[in-house]
Amino acid sequence: PLVKLWGGRFDEPTDAFVEAFTASIGFDQRLYREDIAGSIAHARMLAKVGVLKTEECDKIVQGLNAILLDIERGDFAWVVAYEDVHMNIEARLIDRIGDVGKKLHTGRSRNDQVATDVRLHLRGAIDRILAELTRLRSGLVDLAEREADTVMPGFTHLQVAQPVSFGHHLLAWYEMLTRDADRLVDVRRRVNVLPLGSAALAGTSYPLDRAYVAEQLGFDGVSRNSLDAVSDRDFVIEFLSAASLAMMHLSRMSEELILWTSAQFGFIDLPDRFCTGSSIMPQKKNPDVPELVRGKTGRVYGDLFALLTLMKGQPLAYNKDNQEDKEPLFDAIDTLLGSLRAFADMIPALQPNRDRMRAAARQGFSTATDLADYLVRQGVPFRDAHEIVGRAVRHAQNAGCDLADLPLDVLQGFSAKIGEEVFAVLTLEGSMAARDIEGGTAPAQVRRQAAAARAALAEQ
Ligand code: ARG
Repeated sequence: PLVKLWGGRFDEPTDAFVEAFTASIGFDQRLYREDIAGSIAHARMLAKVGVLKTEECDKIVQGLNAILLDIERGDFAWVVAYEDVHMNIEARLIDRIGDVGKKLHTGRSRNDQVATDVRLHLRGAIDRILAELTRLRSGLVDLAEREADTVMPGFTHLQVAQPVSFGHHLLAWYEMLTRDADRLVDVRRRVNVLPLGSAALAGTSYPLDRAYVAEQLGFDGVSRNSLDAVSDRDFVIEFLSAASLAMMHLSRMSEELILWTSAQFGFIDLPDRFCTGSSIMPQKKNPDVPELVRGKTGRVYGDLFALLTLMKGQPLAYNKDNQEDKEPLFDAIDTLLGSLRAFADMIPALQPNRDRMRAAARQGFSTATDLADYLVRQGVPFRDAHEIVGRAVRHAQNAGCDLADLPLDVLQGFSAKIGEEVFAVLTLEGSMAARDIEGGTAPAQVRRQAAAARAALAEQ
């Protein structure tokens, strides 16, 4: 049987089921790169402060690098009896280089080791997520610029409200995702702090150079309290909150894409390569990607709640409960990255049906507010104008036509202040162009916002 790294005080071997039940190697092997990088930095530091001889450190570093190659080549057997990624690698190191390998764990505990690994891993994941977010945001800006003049109905209560630029709608998505990126950048600052040196919970009696370890691993600083550093996972929860919000935004975008590809809306087409068919209905082309992203949003919310619940009852300092942080975290990383990747690929390929959007914007009296605003400019108080236009809308509705289709004399029957120029006001383009205010839907504003977004993306 394998010798446990902590076997000294035990009289009998671990129960076979307990061994499997307590092991995390099935999922934490994903941390092998960070674990090895952390161990190499720790060994170099031990040599620097004189706890290890230079030759000992060299042997350890060589051994760890060889193990890294083995793992990447798929030539490493993970052993459940060694419980987790940390002890699998350490046991293999001792196997490979002999007794000197037993010196690596000096001044260190798996508690500060795992906290370090998770922070390194999450930092890398945040960077990859930010890169995908940038790719998606750039795609939205390109499309928004191209579609600045495209009219679509803007909705409230999913009822046609006012005409808006399709580009404006796309830039709304851009804003949502930009806040998500900002949040992740902010979370990253609190993730990027080194726990090593905290040891099991109380710190260590060795004269470790923590700043040197932090520098080697690219951490911005070292943790200030050992009890806190080994036990809290609030940085994971913060990431999961930011990830949940990003998924919420992707889910809302998904919902719109799903509506827009339906025959009833017909606003856009998604290329076949982003859709799938039905096994029974030959005519079907389904928007599976947005539907899946909408569905996967629930998983990430679940991951967030799993971690909030995991932490809430834990006394200081480390408890084995924290081993349960990894699967939800990895799941959220994979889900968000995959969803962003699918969206970043899909958005530039989206084909707008401009005629369908325009026709839909003409329905539902979407320029009624413009008529009211016109009356206000003619000196009618807004509340009266609202009432007058409401009556005109009811009339047009009974006549089965749009406001702009009513003859001038009919319109003048509702208000003598109405003149010939009203018909320019009632066009979709006139309505959009009139909202030429910062943040408004006028195509000129959309182009300005798109240019500003492009500059911001280039600068980051
Ligand atoms: N696999 C453990 C985890 O993920 C590593 C730390 C274990 N520490 C301990 N004292 N049992 O949290």
